[in-house]
Amino acid sequence: MDNFAFIIHPINPKRDVQRKFPFLGKVLPVSVINFLSGFFPPVYISRITGIVSEFNQKEIEGWFVACPFTPQRMLQLPPRRVYKKVIQTGRLAEKLGAQLLGLGAFTAVVGDAGLTIARHLDIPVTTGDSYTVAVAIDAAQEAARQMEIDLSGATAAVVGAGGAIGRVCAQLLGPAVSRIILMGRRIKRLNEVKYLVEQVGQPQVQVSTTMADLRRADIIIAVSSAIENIIQPQHLKPGAVVCDVARPRDVSRRVAAERNDVLVIEGGMVEVPGPVDFRFNFGFPPKMAFACMAETMILALENRYESFTLGKDISLAQVQEISRLAQKHGFKPGGFRSFERAVTPQQIEAIKLNSKGSHPFV
Ligand SMILES: NC(=O)c1ccc[n+]([C@@H]2O[C@H](COP(=O)([O-])OP(=O)(O)OC[C@H]3O[C@@H](n4cnc5c(N)ncnc54)[C@H](OP(=O)(O)O)[C@@H]3O)[C@@H](O)[C@H]2O)c1
Repeated sequence: MDNFAFIIHPINPKRDVQRKFPFLGKVLPVSVINFLSGFFPPVYISRITGIVSEFNQKEIEGWFVACPFTPQRMLQLPPRRVYKKVIQTGRLAEKLGAQLLGLGAFTAVVGDAGLTIARHLDIPVTTGDSYTVAVAIDAAQEAARQMEIDLSGATAAVVGAGGAIGRVCAQLLGPAVSRIILMGRRIKRLNEVKYLVEQVGQPQVQVSTTMADLRRADIIIAVSSAIENIIQPQHLKPGAVVCDVARPRDVSRRVAAERNDVLVIEGGMVEVPGPVDFRFNFGFPPKMAFACMAETMILALENRYESFTLGKDISLAQVQEISRLAQKHGFKPGGFRSFERAVTPQQIEAIKLNSKGSHPFV
């Protein structure tokens, strides 16, 4: 049977370690988990079955394998040590018989975004970033529509616009809005993206390294690789939509507690076709997967055992192609979730109402 493997890793150290090792996750403090994760071997997690294409009823299977490093550990260690562990995890996938390997969360962010890892493995590797972009843009636009934001008159912002995912998001969202703010840490990188966004027909582009500038945005895609929550309640305009694609998330939980007038949705959740069984709880409802996982599945369903998305330069053509293949095989947007809970139409109505009456932090 055609198949794939996907590398996951602990993002929230205590919660995620408990999912596989309940006792260790419960008793060890975060600092010890971060430290020990440097010495832990790759871990077999589960066999995934029941992914069935709606196009030709082809069925595939897969495996979750885990790289033990936390995001904090990956940023502390030299990239070559992180590569080594991810490559070991990839070899475990090869031993299982995987024909294609997907890189989850920070295993795709570190260093050159999969290029070195792919060079050291015998099977092709994909980061999943192309489909992540497609799903994030669709979700953000749909959320804006439900919040009655007129995109053609709106200000958008991309947080982490200089990154692999952020850069393409800016190019796709730029032409649909009235103006766009590109946010990150390095102005030079942001100016390069500004040029790209201008080339696709958006002359109103601002670059910024100051989070307070987010207050002007009606629609925000958050896709930085920060390990802390960089978007706080005071950064958001009443009525704003935030699509948080980053893992760990960019938006602080304080926003959920303190701002009932903004809509924060998780980017990147898709419904997988067929009676899929992941045999591992990674925090999503049944049948739902991250878009980056889905990209790996789509390529296996399509028999395309190739390194589809690698490196930091993702093209608009890659995003369009994986989006077309996803639709062909029956992958669908997974609905809105906010801080791990489904968002109901009633909640969206309440947010709209609250945003009209509220002027916090002004
Ligand atoms: N939900 C999903 O399915 C999914 C799939 C794939 C990836 N992801 C997540 O998406 C995120 C981005 O991935 P990527 O591959 O695009 O990473 P990337 O290429 O490393 O880009 C991340 C960008 O974030 C910026 N950044 C980092 N820390 C920041 C801070 N404190 N304030 C402002 N900007 C900051 C960086 O800016 P500078 O360049 O200026 O340093 C960089 O340009 C990661 O969190 C990853 O885990 C999610």
